[in-house]
Amino acid sequence: MKTKESNIIHILHFSDTHVGALVRHMGWKKWFSKRGIGAINLLRGRASYFDEVEEKMAAMVRFKEEQGIDIVINTGDYTALGLEHELSLARELVSPLMMPPQNYLTVPGNHDIYVHEGNSHYRFAAHFCSVLQNDLPEYCRGGHFPLVRLIGESAAIIALNSAKPNPWPWRSDGHIPTAQLEAFEEMLSDARLKNRFLFVMTHYAPRLANGKPDKKLHGLHNADDFLHICARIEKGAILFGHIHRTYRVDVPETGIPLYCAGSATMEGHEGAWVYELDTHAKVLNAKQVYWNGLAYSFEPVCYLRDQLVQ
Ligand SMILES: [Fe+2]
Ligand SMILES: [Fe+2]
Repeated sequence: MKTKESNIIHILHFSDTHVGALVRHMGWKKWFSKRGIGAINLLRGRASYFDEVEEKMAAMVRFKEEQGIDIVINTGDYTALGLEHELSLARELVSPLMMPPQNYLTVPGNHDIYVHEGNSHYRFAAHFCSVLQNDLPEYCRGGHFPLVRLIGESAAIIALNSAKPNPWPWRSDGHIPTAQLEAFEEMLSDARLKNRFLFVMTHYAPRLANGKPDKKLHGLHNADDFLHICARIEKGAILFGHIHRTYRVDVPETGIPLYCAGSATMEGHEGAWVYELDTHAKVLNAKQVYWNGLAYSFEPVCYLRDQLVQ
């Protein structure tokens, strides 16, 4: 991946857009699966928090242009139920952010592979294949992950897939397959990644905003193993979503900070990050992004539904 002449790279990180399900498109048989329960929850109100996803994604495209963003990272949960037409719509909404494709990185979230249908991961990959190219494919362990993108000479982004289908409605936990973790550990000794600033991205949160592990039924099972490997990284950051709150936290398990993008579109909780990476000094300046009701900006604005409060 080539970068512009300046030594500052601007990276936009957003997540959990949850493009709404059009429930009427679901076959009647799916009402008896987890997806059926998810759909009922959507009908009961959850979906209304994501009503304006199309407008917000259009605003995100404008924000990217205004801020001169070089690289875009999305940490998954594009959809609500992982349906074909949801993935298709999500892909369409983010496609302006995918130009050029090598400057866009993503992983699936648990909602993008909501229930196991044998081809859930393939379905996600089919929609997002144009942005799944891997600069170090020899480390790939099934599917497309780990996926590595080299950024100029001084940085790299490593994407690990932690999403898995959850057949039970009360579970939304994840884990990074052992083979991926082993490949991740192995690549940290690779000369091509030495002395680079390393972003490590996945869907699930290794730690909550208070530094504690997430609940067993909602969190990343092998977060400790993951953080233990990340402790070998001298300069870098861990990026994720899944939790719909934007936060940064430092934890004793690793020397690099953790950034949760939260949800870019959940009404009342919209957030994201812009990371400014000085590629010479390898120093990261993170700026939180807010939604003001009309546009994304760096100015925090509190608003309640239907009422802006400065
Ligand atoms: Fe989510
Ligand atoms: Fe999630």
